[in-house]
Amino acid sequence: MKRIGMLTSGGDCQALNATMRGVVKGLCNLYDDVEIYGFLEGYKGLIRNNYKLLKAEDFSGILTRGGTILGSSRQPFKLMNQPTEDGIDKVKSMKETYKKLKLDCLVVLGGNGSQKTANLLSEEGLNVIGLPKTIDNDLWGTDMTFGFQSAVDIATQAIDCIHTTAASHNRVFVVEIMGHKVGHITLHAGIAGGADIILLPEIPYDIKSVCKALDKRSREGKGFSIIAVAEGAISKEDAALPKKKRKEKLANRPYPSVAYEIAEQIKDACGSEVRIAIPGHTQRGGGPDAYDRVLSSRFGAYAAKLIHDERYGRLVVLKDNDVTDIALSESAGKLKYVSPEDSIVQNARMLGISFGDD
Ligand code: F6P
Repeated sequence: MKRIGMLTSGGDCQALNATMRGVVKGLCNLYDDVEIYGFLEGYKGLIRNNYKLLKAEDFSGILTRGGTILGSSRQPFKLMNQPTEDGIDKVKSMKETYKKLKLDCLVVLGGNGSQKTANLLSEEGLNVIGLPKTIDNDLWGTDMTFGFQSAVDIATQAIDCIHTTAASHNRVFVVEIMGHKVGHITLHAGIAGGADIILLPEIPYDIKSVCKALDKRSREGKGFSIIAVAEGAISKEDAALPKKKRKEKLANRPYPSVAYEIAEQIKDACGSEVRIAIPGHTQRGGGPDAYDRVLSSRFGAYAAKLIHDERYGRLVVLKDNDVTDIALSESAGKLKYVSPEDSIVQNARMLGISFGDD
């Protein structure tokens, strides 16, 4: 008999349910009797002792279902050591819930911040296993997180749809894609959707260079252009500011988001007719694509094996197409950024895609 706690934490994504199903199927193959305590709304459920006792049947039929049957919430790591508004010591309370339910292991499906908390709980003596979730694919230590490919598919479809209308009207379109700190989705969807310019947080842009790329296309007789912009794309000028000043400036910019700012800059600098498209949270919505269904099922089965082998304090990862694991402490606190040196960036440049930086 195994008693497992499970929670889904942070921004949701496709394949959370598929991953939990994988864990439970894997466990049911290894044990005759499994009790699953599903904590509701992420760490909040663990803190507040709010859970559902689930059976294997509860995880049937959810391979293709988006969202999470447990609900999710953001519980920032940096606030974990501060009491809740009603005075609860979060870490103490999570440990008490775990002990009260006599859990053998807590399985945490989460991204960077959630895995930092998973590592903290592991260091506090709980048996914890992490599963790498996020559409951003920015979790350090894994080549791929589940949710990423499905989000890339949706962002790519958005660019595809914009392509036809942009061509009909000879317009410049700025398509804003999710990713505040990292540009993996924008880079992949930009290439997949045939974007002409890709602007990422990791490669600050110069609006003159963006206009140069637009002008080049016009001179080649191409009447429209698509710019794929990550939410966190930043100009060279802003990137050069001291961190505090930069934060202040960005927080007070008179635009709803970066796409509006860039559209305005292009109108002013190049005089082009510009429109904006923002797929927003559709990128996290709906069911997982085939790639994510396979990846998350493999991740889940692997987590069950880790539990069986009593190898705790581990994060399940994909490395060179193999599912394996690393210490939670190895990944905690690090982000996986796009590097301008990455071969994918070099390949994109060779295709003539501008990153607005030359
Ligand atoms: O971390 C996933 C993510 O979708 C980011 O790409 C995006 O910047 C952020 O979450 C949006 O967060 P929220 O759903 O809280 O608005």
